[in-house]
Amino acid sequence: MKHIVVLVSGNGSNLQAILDACQQGRINGRVEAVFSNQAQAFGLERARAAGIPAHALTAAQPADRAAFDLALMLAIDAYQPDVVVLAGYMRILSPAFVAHYYGRLLNIHPSLLPKYPGLHTHRRALENGDREHGATVHFVSEELDGGPVILQAKVPIFVDDDEHEISARVQQQEYAIYPLVISWFVSGRLTLRDNAAWLDEEKLPPQGHAAE
Ligand code: GAR
Repeated sequence: MKHIVVLVSGNGSNLQAILDACQQGRINGRVEAVFSNQAQAFGLERARAAGIPAHALTAAQPADRAAFDLALMLAIDAYQPDVVVLAGYMRILSPAFVAHYYGRLLNIHPSLLPKYPGLHTHRRALENGDREHGATVHFVSEELDGGPVILQAKVPIFVDDDEHEISARVQQQEYAIYPLVISWFVSGRLTLRDNAAWLDEEKLPPQGHAAE
């Protein structure tokens, strides 16, 4: 059984989708541990409810990114992860962290990257009058929200939408695409090579594997 470690900062609804997919056998792997940089993150409660070790990491010097991430790496590596999954982990990673897990570090971002890296993606899409929005699962590289795209899901933006409605629509898609991508990875179908994502030995285009 492949070892999955998940990092969260908040609600953990994507974590829940991953836990459910593991439990239902849609992902042939097991979440070995969940870590958070926020002691109050509800994601930690979800992990505990599922009987999974849940750790809030509070480094002595949280402002020292390198020291914080080194402590986090040591704690994560105790679980011998095959893949480290960022599920709403809202902390910028140090280059050493990214290098250490390069090729087995996944992230989900609430926009159609390369559009809207960073924060407030739904608000920005709304303010720009976009008619289309979505979510992206990608390998993590040193560039913020910039690593090779694996899979995107698109949602429409309707005229009367507010930020909350768009966010809910995007999240529904996230719950489908993130477990799917993780299942590809743990079954060995998905790899990172030459700074590109490969699925079934085919190099994926810049927008990733197509999905509507
Ligand atoms: C998700 O929508 C995810 O795309 C986003 O945070 C949310 C976490 O929700 N991630 C980022 O913005 C990363 N830059 P959740 O805690 O309920 O899974």
